[in-house]
Amino acid sequence: MRVLSGIQSSGKLHLGNYLGAISQHIELQEQHECLYFIANYHALTTVRDAEQLRRRTVDVALDYLALGLNPARAALFRQSDVPEVCELAWILATVTNEGLMRRAHSYKDKTAKGIEPTMGLMSYPILMAADILIYRSHLVPVGRDQIQHVEMTQDIAARFNSAFNCDVLIRPEAKLNRAPLVPGVDGEKMSKSYGNTIDLFDEPAAIRKRIMSMKTDSTPVEEPKNPDRCNVYAIYSLLARPEEAAEIEAAYRKGGMGYGEVKKRLFEVYERIFGPARERRAALAADPDRVEDILRDGARQARRIACEVMEEVRKVTGIVVAGNTTA
Ligand code: ADP
Ligand code: TRP
Repeated sequence: MRVLSGIQSSGKLHLGNYLGAISQHIELQEQHECLYFIANYHALTTVRDAEQLRRRTVDVALDYLALGLNPARAALFRQSDVPEVCELAWILATVTNEGLMRRAHSYKDKTAKGIEPTMGLMSYPILMAADILIYRSHLVPVGRDQIQHVEMTQDIAARFNSAFNCDVLIRPEAKLNRAPLVPGVDGEKMSKSYGNTIDLFDEPAAIRKRIMSMKTDSTPVEEPKNPDRCNVYAIYSLLARPEEAAEIEAAYRKGGMGYGEVKKRLFEVYERIFGPARERRAALAADPDRVEDILRDGARQARRIACEVMEEVRKVTGIVVAGNTTA
């Protein structure tokens, strides 16, 4: 089974990204062939500063490696190191119905937030379909907001196969993590565009302050509280061990424990998990050549698969690239 996912290099990673997507990427590397890439072509829909795009691309690589991605088990690479995805994206665009793109929730959400409504933003799902289909991916682990894009990919693959009367592209399935929607400090969906994130690699003092500022209701310390309606508990239960979460849940229902205490516990669990990752990240950041080697090696593995699939795509469509065609 081949697993593939991408993550945009458009900002700092946060707990929502980790619990919604990255943690399952890391877990899956133990059992499957995994390809993970940094979606820098996609990030161009919002980043317009070359230095920033380059830096953030390396930042995501550092984040993934620090969080436990093992380059001996999973290929990690830059999307742009396999430029064939752009070629496939164009070919897929020629079979994709314009109405399908108009139904994309993410396009509506992003333009509503003020992101420029470019053709790149509108055809973002087509490039994503190319990312998935060019590696013949079986499983695509993503957060809930990306499910529609995987469904569009299924539709686009079927249209391509039917248009060219072939079975070159295979149907991928999405895979949700156990935390499809992580709340932010204000209780809304955690997202960098809402400014409500708890980031993964900030300094401990900043994280502590952020956690202590989380919004809660005003139930007094001695009264029972509802864990199902508390964003602090929601995040705690996702990070802590099951027995720790059960203990806090019982304390909520019983009363006598204040939100300040739960926030302190949340900070401790956060540090237990991300403190060592922060140290690994600092060590890796001091060795940029090693990170570059990992990305190049990952790209070599990914590109070999992509080139094979593109050979078949060119053959069935009649597209000729000098020196490349087998037709
Ligand atoms: P953001 O909303 O901060 O811009 P992205 O859209 O870059 O985050 O998301 C990257 C990945 O992380 C996607 O797979 C997405 O589904 C997942 N993700 C982001 N925020 C959350 C969240 N609050 N809960 C669960 N998953 C999330
Ligand atoms: N759109 C995804 C996000 O915002 C990133 C992405 C790009 C992706 N191409 C992909 C995810 C292919 C999975 C598969 O998170």
